[in-house]
Amino acid sequence: MIKHDVKDLNLAPQGKKRIEWADGDMPVLKAIRERFEKEKPLVGKKMSACLHVTAETANLARTLKAGGADLVLVASNPLSTQDDVAASLVKDYDIAVFAVNGENNETYYDHIKSAIEHNPIVTMDDGADLVSTIHSDYPDKTAQIIGSMEETTTGIIRLRAMHKDGALKIPVFAVNDAETKYLFDNRYGTGQSTVDGIIRATDFLIAGKRVVVAGYGWCGKGFAMRMKGMGANIIVTEVNPIRALEATMDGYLVMPMSEAAKIGDLFVTITGDIHVLRKEHFEEMKDGAIIANSGHFNVEINIEDLNNLAKLKNPEVRNFVDEYVMADGRRLYLLADGRLINLAAAEGHPASVMDMSFATQALTTEYMVNNNLPVDVHEVPEEIENWIATAKLASMDINIDELTEEQKKYLASWEMGT
Ligand code: ADE
Repeated sequence: MIKHDVKDLNLAPQGKKRIEWADGDMPVLKAIRERFEKEKPLVGKKMSACLHVTAETANLARTLKAGGADLVLVASNPLSTQDDVAASLVKDYDIAVFAVNGENNETYYDHIKSAIEHNPIVTMDDGADLVSTIHSDYPDKTAQIIGSMEETTTGIIRLRAMHKDGALKIPVFAVNDAETKYLFDNRYGTGQSTVDGIIRATDFLIAGKRVVVAGYGWCGKGFAMRMKGMGANIIVTEVNPIRALEATMDGYLVMPMSEAAKIGDLFVTITGDIHVLRKEHFEEMKDGAIIANSGHFNVEINIEDLNNLAKLKNPEVRNFVDEYVMADGRRLYLLADGRLINLAAAEGHPASVMDMSFATQALTTEYMVNNNLPVDVHEVPEEIENWIATAKLASMDINIDELTEEQKKYLASWEMGT
């Protein structure tokens, strides 16, 4: 059997059903898989991917394998692995997987080491842990790597910082920055799955709650929009004046966290930055306040501050809910240890949006292999995005207009006014 470290191979039958169910809502990726099957564009290429090991990722892994890639898949977060899916990938699809839900930090990095020891020539990341570990601990291996793909905002921020410092040694595609990714995955995917995770964890009524959304990027926008639709009163906190203005004109209250902390019922961080919620905010929060994170890393909430302030911690008062009792008796509830709530307590983004994100991943991988790119953080080629959007529309039976010859001419000319 192919090498692996998964929780229990006996979980494979359930995982296979989940993979097949997700595949039903991933028509664009499926079309790519069918072409890859025939054309084998990745034949013999050693690849390592560090992604959330979900049913949707399984369908990407199947696609890369269909293209001929020799793939190792490891978890990009200790809490997001779907153990049954990991088992099925090994048992039913013969794909090497190293991922166990709940793995500690040491195992997490041991798994990343397995991905590196595979000696990949192409890598794929969600958060840049694989690429940054290669650069810091295995710098010699960068020479053999053609390039990498990065899935998320946090990863792109890290990679751009590496490039600015002159530390980046391989070309990278900023998959997150493709419109076929962030307009749908970040907005509608994070929007829906974050609501889903919070509800699964708490079973709370959303209507009438004051929900504080920290960060009004595409993920924050999607989450605020969906929460508003369920009757919440939204408060946005921001550091960027343009986004703060946008949130104001989208109809939300905007204020500093120091003020929002006093009135919020539910706090959700989606910024990509560190310690967005900290001591000074926990000191102000109401009894019963709920705190969650939907940003990539578990750094947005300062859990150490929460531990220091609490006179008592009651772990798991409910699945995914830890109760912190403050010295003055107020109870604050932290969800999923501050890890991304949509993947920890729910199933991540629905397959239909991951279809576009992972179609972008598969096609940029093919492009990376066929083109010799310089070291940089590259944008996804426009033709890839247009192909994916067109294929997705076709799968939804949606037709759109085409420019007439007269309109094309008008758009290309500068002489004609009214
Ligand atoms: N990131 C967010 N949701 C995801 C999912 N369902 N699968 C893989 N990565 C994800």
